[in-house]
Amino acid sequence: MFDAQSIQKDFPQLRRNIHGKRIVYLDSTATSLKPTAVIRKEDDYYKRYTANVFRGIYTTSEEATAEYERARALTAAFIHAGSPEEIVFTRNTSESINLVAYSLLTHDLSPGDHIVTTIMEHHSNFVPWQQLGAERNIAVDIWGITPQGTLNFADLEKLVTRKTKLLAVTAASNVLGTINPVSKIVRAVKQLNPKCFVLVDAAQAVPHMPVDVAEWGADFVAFSSHKMLGPTGIGVLWGTQDVLDTLHPFLFGGEMISEVHVDRTVFKSAPHKFEAGTPHIAGVIGFGAAVEYLSALGMQHVRDHEEKLVSYAMKQFDRMGGVTYLGPNDARIRGGVFALQVKGAHPHDIAQLLNEDNVFVRAGNHCAMPLHESLGVPSTARASFYVYTTEKDIDALIVSLQKVKNMFG
Ligand code: ALA
Repeated sequence: MFDAQSIQKDFPQLRRNIHGKRIVYLDSTATSLKPTAVIRKEDDYYKRYTANVFRGIYTTSEEATAEYERARALTAAFIHAGSPEEIVFTRNTSESINLVAYSLLTHDLSPGDHIVTTIMEHHSNFVPWQQLGAERNIAVDIWGITPQGTLNFADLEKLVTRKTKLLAVTAASNVLGTINPVSKIVRAVKQLNPKCFVLVDAAQAVPHMPVDVAEWGADFVAFSSHKMLGPTGIGVLWGTQDVLDTLHPFLFGGEMISEVHVDRTVFKSAPHKFEAGTPHIAGVIGFGAAVEYLSALGMQHVRDHEEKLVSYAMKQFDRMGGVTYLGPNDARIRGGVFALQVKGAHPHDIAQLLNEDNVFVRAGNHCAMPLHESLGVPSTARASFYVYTTEKDIDALIVSLQKVKNMFG
């Protein structure tokens, strides 16, 4: 039985009282809280078997290597990857996407090629393509959205041509909450141009719903540990072995090589050729514990829980009136993310007033300025949910929003 109230007990931060009041953490889209199991796992590495990975023929180094590679295998199983070798550890989703941008595209572009991204992207899946386009003088076309906040499928046929090198799309928007139909997008793109790569920013999807990369059929999937109960500083890039093997390394240095001579270097095969230098060992091992924690909860249960919260929150917003949110009003295609507006109140004022009640939300453009600009909305106050969020937390948000409304309305 999935019970968010008892799940809260696994998160030490939720035991904190500030000014005598409990914390209502509604900013999991920015970063999630960490359960004791993850904190202990990381701590254990530092206390019991700190050593570098892949480099030592002694017990603690072998333990560290085994735990590091175990985290890779857990991650592969979590997203139904074909093998652990398809999992590259990076620093975050941004680095995973930059790895593809640098490794693939700087080496393989011809005149007339172009890239497609969407207006609902986080900057991490927008700026790398924009910058690459400017540097290599190739066009970056933007896939727009419907008034409901879903991708406009009618436009796809015009956007993807024989010269489209890559289409970059998010699986779930960190502002609109929209869950995009990734398999359908990939099928449509590959039908229009079988050679077009599809890169999926899954930073807001892998933490919140079952993800099967084989079923999606994309070429690259990027996501971050810190949004799925794991430590900060760890990202994942998934790609099939064939595709990863064709990519050129993005960073050069220790452990990514098999031979170095004065005049040449032979790189290891993926994933190691992309993991130059000593990695964030404790972080990867802690991430493995986060994957185990989520696996034990069951990702379909996680999604069902969040869908219920989304329905509940929409009902409460409608009931109170004077509060609007961006994106679709259908819980079946929405994640637990609400970018809110209260008439007459600046989003920073909303966040500050909510903070007085220990209700923590993010205010601003949420690293999605092009989206906000296209909607003519400078900024929003965003509340987001996760496994430990309860209806009681949403009630607390409503009570605080009512205060905002009374003050500014
Ligand atoms: N990507 C994170 C957010 O949406 C930081 O808040």
